[in-house]
Order: sequence, then C-alpha cells, then structure tokens
Amino acid sequence: MNADGRTRLNQTSEWTALAKHREELGDVHLRELFAADSGRGTAYTLRVGDLYVDYSKHLVTDDTLRLLRELAAATGVFGLRDAMFRGERINSTENRAVLHTALRASRDAVVEVDGENVVPSVHAVLDKMAGFADRVRSGAWTGHTGKRIRNVVNVGIGGSDLGPAMAYEVLRAYTDRSMTFRFVSNVDGSDLHEAVRDLDPAETLFIVASKTFTTIETVTNATSARSWLLDALGDEAAVARHFVALSTNAGKVAEFGIDTANMFEFWDWVGGRYSYDSAIGLSLMIAIGPDRFREMLDGFRIVDEHFRTAPAESNVPLLLGLLGIWYGNFHDAQSHAVLPYSHYLSRFTAYLQQLDMESNGKYVGRDGREVEWQTGPVVWGTPGTNGQHAYYQLIHQGTKLIPADFIGFARPVAELSDELKAQHDLLMANFFAQTQALAFGKTPEEVRAEGVPEELVPHKTFKGDHPTTTILAPELTPSVLGQLVALYEHKVFVQGAVWNIDSFDQWGVELGKVLAKRVEPALTEGAEVEGLDASTKALVATYRELRGR
Ligand code: F6P
Repeated sequence: MNADGRTRLNQTSEWTALAKHREELGDVHLRELFAADSGRGTAYTLRVGDLYVDYSKHLVTDDTLRLLRELAAATGVFGLRDAMFRGERINSTENRAVLHTALRASRDAVVEVDGENVVPSVHAVLDKMAGFADRVRSGAWTGHTGKRIRNVVNVGIGGSDLGPAMAYEVLRAYTDRSMTFRFVSNVDGSDLHEAVRDLDPAETLFIVASKTFTTIETVTNATSARSWLLDALGDEAAVARHFVALSTNAGKVAEFGIDTANMFEFWDWVGGRYSYDSAIGLSLMIAIGPDRFREMLDGFRIVDEHFRTAPAESNVPLLLGLLGIWYGNFHDAQSHAVLPYSHYLSRFTAYLQQLDMESNGKYVGRDGREVEWQTGPVVWGTPGTNGQHAYYQLIHQGTKLIPADFIGFARPVAELSDELKAQHDLLMANFFAQTQALAFGKTPEEVRAEGVPEELVPHKTFKGDHPTTTILAPELTPSVLGQLVALYEHKVFVQGAVWNIDSFDQWGVELGKVLAKRVEPALTEGAEVEGLDASTKALVATYRELRGR
C-alpha cells in the first residue's frame, strides 16, 4: 500500500492476474489465434469518428482484454479521466488543471477551472486568431513597408514547434500555396539562416511561439530574427507589423518588445505538447484558414467525446493504451513504432515522440516513489514505405518485440494527378502486406515448398507473431488529423493513469537546461566553471582548441 492509499500497481490482484494470464498464453502464435476464430478479423475492430481500428493482429484474447480493462478500472483511469474533463488539478506536481480538451469544446460548453468557465476565453482567442489569419491571408495585414505578407516563420521549440510544424505538413494539401511557411526551432543558427535566407523581410511575419516566453532557444532565435528584420527595414516600428507572439506570459512578451495587442493568449492548463490546437496553432490557421482549423478542432472533439463516454469495451484510446501496457509490462517490449502510410504524415511520429515520451518518460510515480514497472516506451517511426527499405528488416527478423501502429488512408488527397492517384493502391498494397507478413510470417515448410535450398531456409523463414494495430481512415482531412491526435493524447493519458505517473509535468528536461547555462561561459569566455567534471572539462578544452579562438 502507498501513502496515497493506492496499492502498488504490481501488487494489485489485477496485475497479478495479467502476469498469470501471460504465462498461460505462453507462446501462442497469431496464426493459432486466427485459426481458432474465423471472425477475429472483424470482431477485433472498433470505429471512432472516421477511424477504423483493427486490433485483431495483437497477441490478445477476450480474456486478455477483459483483464486489461479490469486493471484500468482498478487503477482509477476513469476517475482520473473524469477529473481531467472537469478541470481538476490532476497535474499534481505543478498544481495545474489539464484541459487541452477545453481547447476544442463547443462554444456553448461549460468547462470550469476554479469555478470559472474557460470556454468563452478559448473561443475569444480562436476568434481573434481567425480575424488575424483572415487579414494575413487576404493581404489586409501588411508589413511595415505596405507589402503583403507572403512568408510566415514560426519560431518555437518542443510543443511550440512540433505541433504546428507537423500539422502544417499533414495538411499541406489544404494550405494557401501562394504563401511560404517555415518552422525554426533549433538554437543552431543554421536553422534560422536556412529558414530566412531566400525571404524578403518586408514580406515576412514572425510568429514567436512560447508558452513561458523564457525558453532560451526561442528567445535567442526570435532576437536574431528581429535583428535580421531590422537590418533590412531599419526601423524599430517594423517589429509591430512583423512580430506576433503566442504565449501565456504577457509580461515577458512585452519585455521582448512585442506589442501585447499582437499576442494570442493561452493558459497554464494547456501543456506545451498538448497545445497546437490553442493559439500555438496560429501559423497552421494562417496556412489552412480558420474554417479548416475549426474542422480539425471538430475532429479532436469527436474523439474527446468518445473517450469520455464510450464504454470500456469499445473505447479506442483506452484499448490502445492498454495494449501498450500489455506489451511494455507483460512482454517487456521497449519501444513502439508508429508507421504512417502517407507522406504527409512524415512529421507525425516526431510529434508523437514529445507527446508520449515527455508525458510518460518518468520513473517516479505520483506518490513520489520509484516505480517498479516499465513506463513509457521509446516511440519511433517514419513513413512506412521508406521504412520498409531501411529498418523493417529488424522488425521482421530481429530479436526485439516491436508493437507497431500502421496508419493509412483509403483515398489519396484530391489534388494529385490521376497518375499519382493511381499509385495509391500500390502504397496501400504495401500497407496491408506488411501487417500480414508481420503477423503470420512464413514457416520453414512454406519456404521449402518454394524449392529454397535447405541451408537458406532459416534465413528466409519469418517467424511472424509481430503485433500491429491498423488504423484506416477514408481520407486525410483536418478532422481526421484532429481525431488521430486526440486518439494518441488519450492513449498516453490512459497509460500514465495506470502507471500512476503525472503525465503532464516534464521535470526531466530541466537539468540539461541548467547545465547548459552553467557551461556556456566556459565556451564563450574560457571561464573556469566550478564543479565541471573531468570529461566535460576536457571536451570543452578540445572544443575551444578546435574552434580556434
Ligand atoms: O522541453 C521542455 C518544454 O518545456 C516543453 O514541454 C515545451 O513544449 C517546450 O519546452 C517549449 O516551451 P515553451 O513553449 O515555454 O517555449
């Protein structure tokens, strides 16, 4: 028992029952599970919004799923979910509510934080964003010299970059193609250099995105961007037409020199990695227009409502979260691959890395004690067909268990030529073939039957039994993107709740920030930094020597 009155997760009867069940299942193969139930391919599927989710190729039976749901119930997942939606301060280490779901609440909804309905403020900011986006898109908002804004550069990092950058790529087919959008995050000066080198400052709008407005990378890049602009335009007054801010920190925005009238606000109950549907999405809204942005929010809301109300048996985020627990905690899987079969989703997994790994990469539980179970997995992956010619070998024939999500679409985006559209079936043939090969493999007998010489049979055998989820949607629309992101947000929530960790803080990124600040004078001035370890000292000395100044 813990100080918080909870039984340690690994001492609950539900956990023990799952461990026993895992032993009993032994090495049962997906081939056997399918052979035993001809209806499995349709029975083990769910729908939410536009998403068709096939979980039949998982190493689970009805009993496994029941036991996992019992674990969720015993660990208070549903209570915590309801507390989140109610606006309670479930981010306990930061004493904050967790209300990204309020960002997509309908105008007439009521979501209270400390007795105050936050929905009117959410919609006021959305309306302000829409007004601004329309003015930029129509050319009514001009730069300092009167030229139309043709380039938008988002300057931010982490959640203030990955979300808008990912969504811009995903929804490229919906963007205003006459405008250029760039995303600068890295404090490596080459990032900003490459982003602006071919742009006309008089036509460029910088959106400085930072929840705290204290993040060193963003403030440094924004300062350099301002110098770039002023070097060309030569008038401090230009900043007001070429810089806007997205932040919770009006004081710091003003201190930086951005008029707070040009600030789009959000709130401390929006975590950075859960924020691109807030003001942080302004660059995306300018790219796709307010109507499409609202369609995306509608998509989020479909999955929010589903997560909040669907029974456990048909609750998709719950299911995906529990499947991850099954593999991480009972099969010792260390990583989870997300493999989209859409080139537009090329940044999707990078976005999910922050969402999942910054949320659930924790070894200390809500009770302040070290956990005795695996928490968040390593999340990785790139668009599927490219991966097939790179790392799929290891998934098929390596020694590691890598559960994977395959995400695909029935129709290509409308603007492709007929010839390019025709390639879609080939893309999707790969999509279906891969999950089939991963699940069922190829037996030595099947290999021999092809006349393969005996010494090559082991090399050409595929054991199979690699679990995958298939997520299939009709088409990649703004709404479908919202649905997908909400699905993963809530999956991460479920896992954090079961593991009894606070998925909404990120103390683990602090130490590196502090040390970077401490080491910097050693690099710039050759200062003697107290307490520097021998390795870092030698590395810094070598760096200075190689740098030659
Ligand atoms: O990496 C830590 C972090 O705080 C993330 O959680 C956040 O998304 C990112 O830095 C950027 O923070 P900010 O939006 O405050 O600049």
